[in-house]
Amino acid sequence: MRKLAAGNWKMNGTSEDLDEILTLIAAHPAPKQCEMLICPPATLLARMAEKAAGSALQVGGQDCHAAPSGAHTGDISAEMLRDAGANWVILGHSERRQDHQETDQMIRAKMMTAHDHSLAVILCVGETRAEREAGRALEVVAGQLDRVLTRYRSDSDIGCRAENFAIAYEPVWAIGTGLTASSTEIAEVHSFIRNHISKEFGILGATGRAIRLLYGGSVKPSNAAEIFALPNVDGALVGGASLRASDFGAIVAAL
Ligand code: G3H
Repeated sequence: MRKLAAGNWKMNGTSEDLDEILTLIAAHPAPKQCEMLICPPATLLARMAEKAAGSALQVGGQDCHAAPSGAHTGDISAEMLRDAGANWVILGHSERRQDHQETDQMIRAKMMTAHDHSLAVILCVGETRAEREAGRALEVVAGQLDRVLTRYRSDSDIGCRAENFAIAYEPVWAIGTGLTASSTEIAEVHSFIRNHISKEFGILGATGRAIRLLYGGSVKPSNAAEIFALPNVDGALVGGASLRASDFGAIVAAL
């Protein structure tokens, strides 16, 4: 399984930013070491997918609703994401958890809908600063995984096929702050997640080892190589540094 370099543009980007991906594709037309993914705002998704068509760049959504369709003003469905050209969706990002009071139960329902619509999922987990300072980081991450993955009990479940599922460890205190978790902290949590999904969910053997564990939180060209050298780090979920092709391309090259 190749590593995964995923960019999350969050609520950034207008039409004039779309050409960034042409620069990215030109610089990295066929990266052998990793898959490349950009998740733009929904307004740019279809146009970005058109520009990326036939290239190594995949596009994804930043969220989807748990319902397949219906009266949910302002929301976007998994089917709409597929229709716009997405094959991935980020779920459970801490900004969704905070801004929209998303619970693990809601995220689980979204994940099931996403997989039902053949969208691969990046599931985000991570502790707040207060939780880390209280020594509860691993407990918090375990709780999030347990509640979201309740349905996913075996590696024969389609949702647990390694290529359809990645877990992003994003300590909330490291997102957009310039503060990166230390190598020791990242390695500890990633090792814990790898063991936990095998032990608790029966995602064993080759599948368990192949599920990609991404790190997210102030990843940038200057720290990417050090983070990617850590055991059980299979890529990154990049926010701010994914907005410019030069920065994201440097992160892709570091994988
Ligand atoms: O989804 C991406 C993460 O929230 C990381 O964002 O790289 O701007 O810290 P950041």
